[in-house]
Amino acid sequence: MDTREFQRRRKRLMDMMGDESIAIIPTAPVRIRNRDVEYPFRHDSDFYYLTGFAEPESVAVLIPGRSSGEYILFCRERDARMETWNGIRAGLEGAVEKHGADDAFPIEDLDDILPGLLGDQERIYYTMGNDPAFDQRLLSWVKHVRDQARNGISAPDEFITLNHILHDMRLYKSRHEIKAMRQAARISAAAHRRAMQMCRPGMMEYQIEAELTYEFTRRGARSPAYSSIVGGGANSCILHYTDNSDELRDGDILLIDAGAEYESYASDITRTFPVNGIFSEAQKAVYEVVLKAQLAAIEAVQPGNHWNDPHEAAVHAVTTGLVALGILKGRVRSLIKEKAYTKYYMHRTGHWLGMDVHDVGDYKVDSEWRMLEAGMVLTIEPGLYLAPGRGLAKKWWDIGIRIEDDVLVTKDGHDVLSKDMPKTVDEIEALMAAGKAA
Ligand code: GLY
Ligand code: MN
Ligand code: MN
Repeated sequence: MDTREFQRRRKRLMDMMGDESIAIIPTAPVRIRNRDVEYPFRHDSDFYYLTGFAEPESVAVLIPGRSSGEYILFCRERDARMETWNGIRAGLEGAVEKHGADDAFPIEDLDDILPGLLGDQERIYYTMGNDPAFDQRLLSWVKHVRDQARNGISAPDEFITLNHILHDMRLYKSRHEIKAMRQAARISAAAHRRAMQMCRPGMMEYQIEAELTYEFTRRGARSPAYSSIVGGGANSCILHYTDNSDELRDGDILLIDAGAEYESYASDITRTFPVNGIFSEAQKAVYEVVLKAQLAAIEAVQPGNHWNDPHEAAVHAVTTGLVALGILKGRVRSLIKEKAYTKYYMHRTGHWLGMDVHDVGDYKVDSEWRMLEAGMVLTIEPGLYLAPGRGLAKKWWDIGIRIEDDVLVTKDGHDVLSKDMPKTVDEIEALMAAGKAA
């Protein structure tokens, strides 16, 4: 993404912060997997949103109106020996020249320099609780400044969480962000199509996971946005199943919830299909209920509707469908009131989507559901999970179905970013038949 995009975001944030304030935004810490092996590094989304800087051990500082530069980046210095082992660093020069920082300092000097930057500011914008070690450091800098009161330096006396303004900014996606999210969804759709076409009874769930990962990686998405869920049969009813270690059996259903992360943006797609390529009568009947609910919920994604409208549409369709199947008995209105559907549909219909799969942004404003507005992106993902022991006739057992798409709110309606991915029974059976013939 263009450095000007990040610059625009910093400027907007600083305009809202006002003078005599300072924002401190550290990236994520490096985490140890075991002994001297690290987890693959993933930058903090807030930090990256404002900087576009992907290196670990970095802290951004924004000081609106500072005459010698408003944007200061603390980062690693160039180091020929370390770069031989671990790869090229931007260094202080790169931070300024390539990444638009006004000033750059070595990360090792943070404790020495930061107290000086805090002096005579009134407000500190910072998000507590992400990294307790960093929280402690910040408090020690503030104390250091307070201790200097007798030298006439005043310490900030107001702490404001960055979340409110920054996460509200992140909720409205720019043209550049939508482009990245479209591409993330396109890559994920290709991976789901591949998984459907490769699936055969007797394969292991992790072999299907490998097909997804293969397609993500070869298309430039180097990581899934979350652990892929590949659950056959009974596992399709476990909402966050990620073991992916069982055999896929003839006659079972397979639920795949997998999305690529592309240029730091997530996609989040679920499709459910029969392992052998042909839906049984019972699987098809449940599938059609979920699909109807999903289409009704997508229809409710309109600017001016509130956040809960798609969920209410899905709940209505799911409940009506469960009554038609004979799984629930009674009047739809009273069943909805009693939340009878939660026995089989126990999660909500979606969440915000962006740099984080469960993205930031408030769902309520002043205790009212938030209004949907152009530029917001959300998932629509109703499901039905018919595990044994939920008062069900045997023919329904182990049918877990979820259908999930990524939906952009537009000026006059919505746009399904993941529309490349087939979802009707006929489309799925045709795609799987073509996969077998290939
Ligand atoms: N993949 C997690 C979710 O659908 O929310
Ligand atoms: Mn999902
Ligand atoms: Mn989701």
